[in-house]
Amino acid sequence: MQIRRLFLLYFSPTGHARRVARMLAGGLRASGLPIDEIDVTDKWDREEPREFGPGDLVFTAFPVYFGRLPLPLQTLDCWSGNGALAVPVAAYGNRAYEDALREAADRLRALGFTVPAAAAFVTEHNQSRLICPGRPNDEDRPGIEAFARRVLEKVASADEDALCVELPGEGEYRPYGRMPAVPQPDEICRHCGRCVEVCPMDIIDPTTMTVREPDQCIGCRACTAACPDNARHYPAPVEARIAELMASIHEKNPEHKPPVVFL
Ligand SMILES: Cc1cc2nc3c(=O)[nH]c(=O)nc-3n(C[C@H](O)[C@H](O)[C@H](O)COP(=O)(O)O)c2cc1C
Repeated sequence: MQIRRLFLLYFSPTGHARRVARMLAGGLRASGLPIDEIDVTDKWDREEPREFGPGDLVFTAFPVYFGRLPLPLQTLDCWSGNGALAVPVAAYGNRAYEDALREAADRLRALGFTVPAAAAFVTEHNQSRLICPGRPNDEDRPGIEAFARRVLEKVASADEDALCVELPGEGEYRPYGRMPAVPQPDEICRHCGRCVEVCPMDIIDPTTMTVREPDQCIGCRACTAACPDNARHYPAPVEARIAELMASIHEKNPEHKPPVVFL
């Protein structure tokens, strides 16, 4: 099958999935085709209708939340595949990606894409710098680039009918989790508005910097990570519980997990 346009689409509240996407670009350059990078982290960019079609190959990178596709992507319905190819790429914090890839592939197929490949790469856990800090880095780059090149090779050599990849798992997805509270500003907050700009759900009040719709918060950490003064947090007992959970995840998963690719 001949590819005419390449896209890198990513939802990446704290930037790790974006770094994976940019490393994919390194492998895709072998094609000589221009690569269109589309950041769909922001609510308004995410909800903009996008039309793809035959000859398009779209890599979609996203973080794993609770072993699932992030909530805002689960219901996304404004992209039309129209027979384009889409490759889900999960960035996860070295615990597990569980149903996230299968769910992403199902969603992309429901939107009219064919899914020829999928991959999961370990990144820093954005709830704790204990887990794989700084990843993906130059150690991960060759594996990520090689995956992109292998997708190009598969697509170039296979018939359209043989392109659909099988992913493991079946039945209902595991239940989605929920953070027990939302991050709020503390007394040193200067009201600079950085958190308002980066919130992918657009739910931070621009005057008070507080979360105005707590039910909508996806716990992504964009606001806490972007705060230049470290002035946003979950309530102290919640931060302590998260730290304990992260320490236990780190203890159970001491080794950086290798890339998982489906082709
Ligand atoms: C609410 C939440 C849930 C998460 N759940 C998982 C998980 O189930 N498994 C895992 O390995 N990492 C998990 N992570 C870690 C992220 O998948 C990882 O840090 C990812 O790189 C974040 O991507 P981003 O920087 O592009 O936002 C979770 C992070 C958050 C904020």
